[in-house]
Amino acid sequence: MNYRVPRTRKEIFETLIKGLQRLEYRGYDSAGVAIDGNNNEVKERHIQLVKKRGNVKALDEELYKQDSMDLEVEFETHFGIAHTRWATHGVPSAVNSHPQRSDKGNEFVVIHNGIITNYKDLRKFLESKGYEFESETDTETIAKLIKYVFDNREIEDITFSTLVERVIQQLEGAFALVFKSIHYPGEAVATRRGSPLLIGVRSKYKLSTEQIPILYRTRNIENMKNICKSRLQRLDSSTCLHAVGNKAVEFFFASDASAIIEHTNRVIFLEDDDIAAVADGKLSIHRVKRSASDDPSRAIQTLQMELQQIMKGNFSAFMQKEIFEQPESVFNTMRGRVNFETSTVLLGGLKAHLKEIRRCRRLIVIGCGTSYHAAVATRQVLEELTELPVMVELASDFLDRNTPVFRDDVCFFISQSGETADTLLALRYCKDHRALTVGITNTVGSSISRETDCGVHINAGPEVGVASTKAYTSQFISLVMFGLMMSEDRISLQDRRREIIHGLQSLPELIKEVLSLDQKIHDLALELYTQRSLLVMGRGYNYATCLEGALKIKEITYMHSEGILAGELKHGPLALIDKQMPIIMVIMKDPCFAKCQNALQQITARQGRPIILCSKDDTESSKFAYKMIELPHTVDCLQGILSVIPLQLLSFHLAVLRGYDVDFPRNLAKSVTVE
Ligand code: G6P
Repeated sequence: MNYRVPRTRKEIFETLIKGLQRLEYRGYDSAGVAIDGNNNEVKERHIQLVKKRGNVKALDEELYKQDSMDLEVEFETHFGIAHTRWATHGVPSAVNSHPQRSDKGNEFVVIHNGIITNYKDLRKFLESKGYEFESETDTETIAKLIKYVFDNREIEDITFSTLVERVIQQLEGAFALVFKSIHYPGEAVATRRGSPLLIGVRSKYKLSTEQIPILYRTRNIENMKNICKSRLQRLDSSTCLHAVGNKAVEFFFASDASAIIEHTNRVIFLEDDDIAAVADGKLSIHRVKRSASDDPSRAIQTLQMELQQIMKGNFSAFMQKEIFEQPESVFNTMRGRVNFETSTVLLGGLKAHLKEIRRCRRLIVIGCGTSYHAAVATRQVLEELTELPVMVELASDFLDRNTPVFRDDVCFFISQSGETADTLLALRYCKDHRALTVGITNTVGSSISRETDCGVHINAGPEVGVASTKAYTSQFISLVMFGLMMSEDRISLQDRRREIIHGLQSLPELIKEVLSLDQKIHDLALELYTQRSLLVMGRGYNYATCLEGALKIKEITYMHSEGILAGELKHGPLALIDKQMPIIMVIMKDPCFAKCQNALQQITARQGRPIILCSKDDTESSKFAYKMIELPHTVDCLQGILSVIPLQLLSFHLAVLRGYDVDFPRNLAKSVTVE
């Protein structure tokens, strides 16, 4: 929203649409905007809603078809909201997309990320009061509820933020919400619980503060006459943020910094139950209740992320770009942490808790999807280096089982986004059981990184492609670095540590070598892309590669694909093998090599035609291979970083050849913020 920064409607559209495009990876079945209608007189504004099924581009086109809207009209203060939706309640359609509205007059409109679990009860109540619903969404309940609170206000000039405060007291579930209303022209209110929300601030003038103190509604104030004459109006300049002298300032509300980074890198991360309001060019944040552990202010932080980091560059898809970034992203994960001269590793975010971690009785590593596979990939090396039992867990299953967790457990939460609802709930569960919690995320300021006791930022840079690639290899390395740090004073492990650290040092170069196989993998994809199924089999250190490779294939090519543990071959999967069934085998020169040869023979004995990912010097496997992809050799426990890359590339080429949108696979979202 802009304050004393004249913007034309066209510029406002462009800002909103650009922001949505940067967030499209979060959900993309429909999109919508709400902006002020044709009249530029603040008091008489009405809200215009434009919503469209499909992607942001479709919405953009639709906006320019609205001939009732003058594109050149200028607004000195304007607040517009926009949203891309990934359906959780109700089919993708214009009416189900956001913003949702309170009534046909668009008195209140709201956008929402998350899920309202008690929406059915609220809806029933509102229907009994005569409200008519038009969509199947949980979000519409919020829009109707705020109107209900407004219509039943006991004081005429109730503030917008007070209304929102009352609304969220009725909501259960997770939400990040931004409201707009014709009753409060030029004002914005945003709040969150469980879903991320940040505020970007841009002004060429000096800002009045770097820390925004939190305001609390105390009983005293509650009892005050005229309470609803806003906290805001009672604030003085030291308790809210504005540009000094009330000069031009723009505020951007977004669920992810990538939506606003081209406008500003100065951001405030909101906490659960914060209510942020902008009125009259000033931002203030308040909370209903104060708790002892509350931080009494929110700092304006400066983000280091650059726009070019989130652009596609010369690649045809973000996923492809991200695969090819791995020599650098892997290096960035280790930078300043691994000392190759002294063979030492220091993870600053864990340092203060290292003693406690060393005393623990087991490690539990929890994640979903690709992040879970990073845990599977490093389990063995963590067991070896920490000499502790290591459990790896899918967050959803971990919660379903009410898994016993103790105070002397250390629980790791692996998440690229840091927002995955299942992983976040597992974190809260472990905190309730008083275990020490460690976050391994790629998103500074994410819920998981904030709610854990300590953690590691994997520094892979923003990942946009829904199918995770570079985050996997960086998570992998982060976990290996943790194992190395834990084993620093184990004399018996020194040779092994040196070997691994040496292996880490040469990884970026070896990754480049693997990436140079791209053309060969493309040719293989040409042979495979019409198939319906693709099996991927291996064991030991490379079992995770099979799971992750199969996940990549199913996510973006929609082929059936399964990661099979070679040790289980004869217990079922062998029945699938014949001349036709395409099968990829990952066979590396490691302690499982001989066992993999047995599996290979069992496959060829059934006329299977294996495509083998193997070490360069492997003359044995080559005798039985239908096709071979030869990979450079590294330390056994790091080999999975190299062996997964050909499968990332293969899935990419298969998806392109099959004509699918690589970055936005159907039915999937980058960050799954619902359980
Ligand atoms: C979704 C994404 C996957 C990702 C998983 C975990 O399912 O589509 O690519 O691996 O979430 O996400 P996280 O952000 O927690 O790593």
